[in-house]
Amino acid sequence: MRRILIMNGPNLNLLGKRETEIYGVHDFKSYLEQLRERYPNVRLDFFQSNMEGALIDKLHEAGFGKVDGIILNAGAYTHTSIAILDAIKAISTPVVEVHISNVFAREAFRHKSMISEACKGVVTGFGLDSYRVALEGLLG
Ligand code: DQA
Repeated sequence: MRRILIMNGPNLNLLGKRETEIYGVHDFKSYLEQLRERYPNVRLDFFQSNMEGALIDKLHEAGFGKVDGIILNAGAYTHTSIAILDAIKAISTPVVEVHISNVFAREAFRHKSMISEACKGVVTGFGLDSYRVALEGLLG
């Protein structure tokens, strides 16, 4: 069974409550349940943290063969974190960068991603479905 880790960064624990006009009204837990039902042959692990270091520790822990791929929504750290970029570069597991919103249709500071260059691909703008598109990409 293939194993994929979904990681959500800061403020994404508030999905369903946070800026619902941008991020939608659904919480991530129920979306993840739907995803698990749709892909019964894939083991989908999940981790969320508001802390940069915790995200880096998780990348290190998962990134040397423990999982087959990582789907990472680094939230605002996407635009700032050289440390997360370096962590993605350091590990061997492929990482797909995802965003719920279309970051290119938003403020200019969201147009720059620090992490894209180290990622296998980027999915942005499909709402929560961005995670499924990333999963399809990883599963090939
Ligand atoms: C986000 C986009 C980021 O710019 C923002 O800081 C987030 C969420 C998205 O999923 O659309 O927290 O990554």
